[in-house]
Amino acid sequence: MDKLEIHGGIPLKGEIRIAGAKNSALPIMASTLLTTDTVKVGNLPHLYDITTMLELLGCMGVESIVGEKLGVEINSGTIRHFNAPYELVKTMRASILVLGPMLAHFGEAEVALPGGCAIGSRPVNLHLAALKKMGADITVENGYIKARTKNRLKGAHIFMDLVTVTGTENVMMAACLADGVTIIENAAREPEVVDLACCLRSMGADISGEGTDTITVRGVERLHGSEYSVMPDRIETGTYLIAVAATRGKIKVKDTRPNILEAVLSKLEEAGAHIDIGKDWIALDMKGNRPKAVSLTTAPYPAFPTDMQAQFTALNAVAEGIGMITETVFENRFMHVHEMNRMGADMKVEGNTVVVNGKEILKGAPVMATDLRASASLIIAGLMSENQTTVDRIYHIDRGYECIEEKLQLLGAKIKRLPS
Ligand code: EPU
Repeated sequence: MDKLEIHGGIPLKGEIRIAGAKNSALPIMASTLLTTDTVKVGNLPHLYDITTMLELLGCMGVESIVGEKLGVEINSGTIRHFNAPYELVKTMRASILVLGPMLAHFGEAEVALPGGCAIGSRPVNLHLAALKKMGADITVENGYIKARTKNRLKGAHIFMDLVTVTGTENVMMAACLADGVTIIENAAREPEVVDLACCLRSMGADISGEGTDTITVRGVERLHGSEYSVMPDRIETGTYLIAVAATRGKIKVKDTRPNILEAVLSKLEEAGAHIDIGKDWIALDMKGNRPKAVSLTTAPYPAFPTDMQAQFTALNAVAEGIGMITETVFENRFMHVHEMNRMGADMKVEGNTVVVNGKEILKGAPVMATDLRASASLIIAGLMSENQTTVDRIYHIDRGYECIEEKLQLLGAKIKRLPS
């Protein structure tokens, strides 16, 4: 297994470009199952999860041509069967996103039931309940979700008990080809949901209300081919900004969208960062100062994102003062805390809150990553430490951060990949 070796203690400085958003690209790729025409998806990030989604579509017979410039042309007209196998679903939970579109377009879908993962139990009961309400016949047998509908799905009034991102996306996609109107209440307002709605609209869908907690979808007979470019990754953007703030550096992040990062930027300002923004860039300068501790609580958008919690925990480890970080979205997303304590951090988990007492500097150590965002936080911890840190199990990072060591090297970091 590859590892990353980091020699920390260097303030990061420079400019980088942000890739397309993983969590927007995955549902958009799944949405191509709603039409038999070709859909061209651009600005795809170069990530394992994207390859896994292409592999999943490919194993069902969907044809795709990978272009030169971060683009792919996908045509589901050649689909042969409707089975998303456990071998792929177990490596990427977002595979569940093929359920809604396949069921709505082809009338059947079999998708391995995703299990729990390092950050929580993560059930998909709300996806299934909503699709059942739309008339689907769904059973779970031998670890597989088996979904069928004799006729078209029916539009329905759906209230989501909890805000779920991929749940909202699955139902929104299915509703595009349903008979009648679907109203999704307590819908996720995440920018990735909005990006998916824009892509679906470019394919002929009739959707309104995305970005609010009530989404209305009027079903249409068919969707058609389209060309759509994925929005920039707000979590990648935030991760680099935090890495630079934690090392007291200076950065300009390009090809991003400041207007979807308000909660994160306001916490960075509270930590002492000087921030300037343009339409598609963000500049951050710590002016050489140590960051100040921040307290925050994660919640669905537009509140502070759970996908940035681990990185802010790392920043607090070296900040001045005490920071309290409360995680409300996933029940087990503090695995990075124990690794950072091994690097000399002073953190205590109390229920769903971690209390971080900032230290001047951490000490490098061998650490192990447990999930994607925890991996990013351990890299940040390594960049702020004296001596050497090795981060093991970095296959997690390759699922969600494009060329992370090259981008950090551009900012002056001493980081290299040690192949297994
Ligand atoms: N939940 C249920 N039942 C459901 C669905 C969700 O109880 O049917 C619960 C979950 O267990 C969790 C909460 O609702 O406690 C919210 O989960 P959600 O469904 O919103 O998460 P997700 O859709 O599985 C997406 C992102 C995650 C991100 C979360 C929260 C994708 C592919 N994944 O997951 O991204 O953390 O939303 O914003 O969009 C990551 O990129 O590292 C990542 C984990």
